[in-house]
Amino acid sequence: MDNVEEYIKANDLQTRDACDVIEEFTDEIYRMRGRCIDIGCGPGTFSKNFLLSKLHPDSVLIGADISKQMIEYARKTSTDEDRIDFIELDIETAKIPANEIGRYDNAFSFYCLHWIQNPRRAYENIYQLLQPGGKVVITFLTFNSGFQAYLKISEDPKYKPYMKDVQKFIPPTLTYNNVRAELKKMLEETGFEVIHCSNREKTFVYKSMKILKGHVRAVNPFLHRMPDNVAEEYMTDLMCEIVNEKMICINKNNINKEEYSILDKYQVLVAYFKKPLNSDN
Ligand SMILES: C[S@@+](CC[C@H](N)C(=O)[O-])C[C@H]1O[C@@H](n2cnc3c(N)ncnc32)[C@H](O)[C@@H]1O
Repeated sequence: MDNVEEYIKANDLQTRDACDVIEEFTDEIYRMRGRCIDIGCGPGTFSKNFLLSKLHPDSVLIGADISKQMIEYARKTSTDEDRIDFIELDIETAKIPANEIGRYDNAFSFYCLHWIQNPRRAYENIYQLLQPGGKVVITFLTFNSGFQAYLKISEDPKYKPYMKDVQKFIPPTLTYNNVRAELKKMLEETGFEVIHCSNREKTFVYKSMKILKGHVRAVNPFLHRMPDNVAEEYMTDLMCEIVNEKMICINKNNINKEEYSILDKYQVLVAYFKKPLNSDN
């Protein structure tokens, strides 16, 4: 996910859901002092504008992302804030850089971990980044019908050449029988003490097709591989697949303009856990 401008214009769902989580854990987050890391911070707007103010004033926040473009944007737009900095980091890496090990007191991750194919490794890496006693708050998508739309449209010969690796972009949680139980077990096997773990159904209303299309475009990992004429047709076909799985409602007060709202039903994991105080670093 490298398209900074499109993501910033179309991230209302992610921002709303991440705000819900920081609101729910306000007291716990305020107590999370020291050097904190926000994994998968994207353009850094959420880290800077929403998360930072919820942390204790003594704390500093480091946004981390795999995307060079996202980190460049985040750095450029945060020069006015002393308490925030950004680094490039792949949380699924086979080896966390030695200078990052044990460097953080607490960690967050909002709407990033569904991009991960090897969650066990990502949690082991988060464990390594933390000091003993470090707390973690995460939320990420565990189900959205948009992922099934990717699988279906990837079978179309027109789009197949651009989506050969489609499985890399489907969260493993789609195949879990009991998402909450399996993720909780994985966190505990990594060494974390799980304080809260729930898989929740959520809804979001896109107020028009245009807004939904902006969101779909901003998070699509295949579009940039396609020539413009293919990309345009792909977006039309993908939108049909996606809208088929969602609920369409006529907007009140707007009946004559034939504008529709689209109700999206999806699932997210919310977890709050800790690296035990007596753990080896
Ligand atoms: C949907 S954005 C979320 C951005 C921000 N946290 C927010 O809530 O607005 C997901 C981000 O995760 C990043 N990401 C994906 N895989 C990653 C990985 N393996 N390590 C670190 N960041 C990753 C993407 O580059 C993208 O910027």
